[in-house]
Amino acid sequence: MTETIIRENRSSETGNGLIGQPLARVDGPLKVTGRATYAYEHALDGAAYGYILGAAIAKGRIVGIDTAEAERALGVLHVMTHRNAPAQSEFGPAVTPTVPEVFTRARPVLNSSRVRFYDEPVALVVAETFEAARAAARLIRVRYEEERGAFDLSARLADAYTPRRTNAGFETDSAIGDFDGAFAAALVKVDATYRTPYEHHNPMEPHATLAVWSGDEVTIYTSAQTLANFQAGLASTLGIPRERVRIVSPFIGGGFGSKLIVHADGVLAALAARVLRRPVKVALTRQQMFANAGQRAEMVQQVRLGADRDGRLTSIGHDVWSATSSFEEFCEQTAVFGRSLYAAPNRLTRHRLVPVDLNRGEWMRSPGEAPGMLAFECAVDELAERLGLDPIELRVRNEPTEDPERGVPFSTRNLVACMQEGGRRFGWERRNPTPGRIREGRKLIGYGMAAAIRPNYIGETTAKVAIDASGRVTAELDMTDIGTGTYTILTQIAAESLGVPIAAVKVELGDSRFPRTAGSGGSWGAASAGSALHHACNALKERIMEAARFSGGSPLRGADDAKPTFVGGEVRVGDRSVSLTDLIGRIAPDGIEATGSVAAGRDTESYRTHSQHSYGAHFAEVAVDRDTGEIRMRRMLSVIGAGRILNPKTARSQILGGMTWGIGAALMEETVLDPRYGHFVNHDLAEYHVPVNGDVPEMEVVFLDEYDDKANPLGAKGLGELGVCGAGAAIANAVYNASGVRVREFPITLDKLL
Ligand code: MOS
Repeated sequence: MTETIIRENRSSETGNGLIGQPLARVDGPLKVTGRATYAYEHALDGAAYGYILGAAIAKGRIVGIDTAEAERALGVLHVMTHRNAPAQSEFGPAVTPTVPEVFTRARPVLNSSRVRFYDEPVALVVAETFEAARAAARLIRVRYEEERGAFDLSARLADAYTPRRTNAGFETDSAIGDFDGAFAAALVKVDATYRTPYEHHNPMEPHATLAVWSGDEVTIYTSAQTLANFQAGLASTLGIPRERVRIVSPFIGGGFGSKLIVHADGVLAALAARVLRRPVKVALTRQQMFANAGQRAEMVQQVRLGADRDGRLTSIGHDVWSATSSFEEFCEQTAVFGRSLYAAPNRLTRHRLVPVDLNRGEWMRSPGEAPGMLAFECAVDELAERLGLDPIELRVRNEPTEDPERGVPFSTRNLVACMQEGGRRFGWERRNPTPGRIREGRKLIGYGMAAAIRPNYIGETTAKVAIDASGRVTAELDMTDIGTGTYTILTQIAAESLGVPIAAVKVELGDSRFPRTAGSGGSWGAASAGSALHHACNALKERIMEAARFSGGSPLRGADDAKPTFVGGEVRVGDRSVSLTDLIGRIAPDGIEATGSVAAGRDTESYRTHSQHSYGAHFAEVAVDRDTGEIRMRRMLSVIGAGRILNPKTARSQILGGMTWGIGAALMEETVLDPRYGHFVNHDLAEYHVPVNGDVPEMEVVFLDEYDDKANPLGAKGLGELGVCGAGAAIANAVYNASGVRVREFPITLDKLL
């Protein structure tokens, strides 16, 4: 059940009110009837199939590789190893990457005898069928010289180093006032250390690529969140100009951050297709994705909160130690959210890294906030208990009037409203602050809550929109729809802006030949692509009016400068009105087009003058079996303040997905690294536990009525990743409230409660 409190559709001047409507996905019918073509399904004549053989050690060197038998196997066309792979660019140095470089640097595959992580590709077999390639891969014999790897984060905290920046470009450290002095003097304090495990994204569609060359140009049908990154990353790796790489990715079966950069499937498909002069498909198997598509790092977090007796925070400290790959650094911005969340005069946040012999860490849904808020919002709950204060009241008492570290005002911030509205709706007053007091037979019932915050990003984006003489509107941009609803909201934006019906609009995404966008990631997709399209539509209307006023034969020739309205398929100026289709037919029989752009948020004035975040409050009710420790979710509620909601149906789905990730993070998800061999033991969906339908309770999502005029012309802020921020902490706090056991090592499995 969802309720959306949107009292008024503050839509634009044109107002057919389509933005803000719960429109069902325009691409839904294609998906449910199997007509949406995913990367591996693109059919090209003569396509061959590649299968990757992964390393059986985590660190060392290949000293012998015998491919003769595989090469003789039925249907095999080619076996590629480091000995015969075409030349690629060198991997960039393992220094702190700048943000663009991390997305676009050369990442060669099969270019060396070195093995840097378990299951790193050591060979690619290409055959007439997938089965033949897979069978032949088993015939390759590899001899290794193994070296001792380093895998244990906890044992190596002393080796931690300070990276130059966090991955998203934030400073690693922030220090305001005198944290040590204030914390030492605080009357009430919490000093708690939390551990969060390695986690893997597992989008439904594994990473897959079909590559085909035409002369010296390659087309890559793949599953990408951000086409520009894939294009640049492949071009760098192959050592060819970007213009010679075309990326096509119209439908994507989930990404969650694992498809922000090109992976081995893309590079190897491109290399093999060039060698064989025919199209080649390469997909990662589900098991291969655990080593070859990034993971969230294991972390240790120390949270220190000091308060006076009234619950006013005097000191906030958040220290993060995170595992990172020994050859490519990745520092999640785990403590960054806390720089904007609560008021306190003395503050300290720090990020440290411990190198381990794993593949690079990557972005995983809500990088930073997901693990960071899981720990931090539990510590706030611990402090509330020590103070004898309600957890909502404690947070309200520490609500800042401006961004506590940047000293600038917030754009819109409705954290307090989210908590209070949520408390009322959830029946928070029924919570007993003393753990274990609400019982139903063997079940102990607990309530928990937590705050949510997530930065609002905008990425540089351009959109093109065109209208033809039949009134059909086409929008083109290299944006992606990773299942989030991009096709749908962009259709709504164009239809509303131009005053035409939904059916008149066709949104074309996922081709690098279209104008470049920031793609899907960091929850910036809707606001970036939507704002660019909004500007493009306004530019199109201006071009139409210019032609309408001055073209011979125009029914609006000589119309005055009054502001035109485009609504109901008509253009009105003053008291003159004409059908849009007729008008275009007369003034531009070949159609008319325009583009619009937005700059990266960080380059804009409103980012300098305002702290921009989305907010929310999560509530959870759990039942814990007193005898077995079994934890069952009973209810969840999230109240969200994320600016204007472009489509409450797709937005709700985003939040529900995030809340479900919260269940996973709190109670189930963990990839177990074998410290002897450096491989992830539970590398499949049978043993990597995620919440399934039976684990997910009644969930409710409420959106507060907001319009953030600082964020962008749509008034919308990012919310894709907001749902998971703090959701796990609300559950963990509920488990504590039920059981009286405070587990600080995630996930909270039943053995830890007994
Ligand atoms: Mo998101 S983890 O930036 O795709």
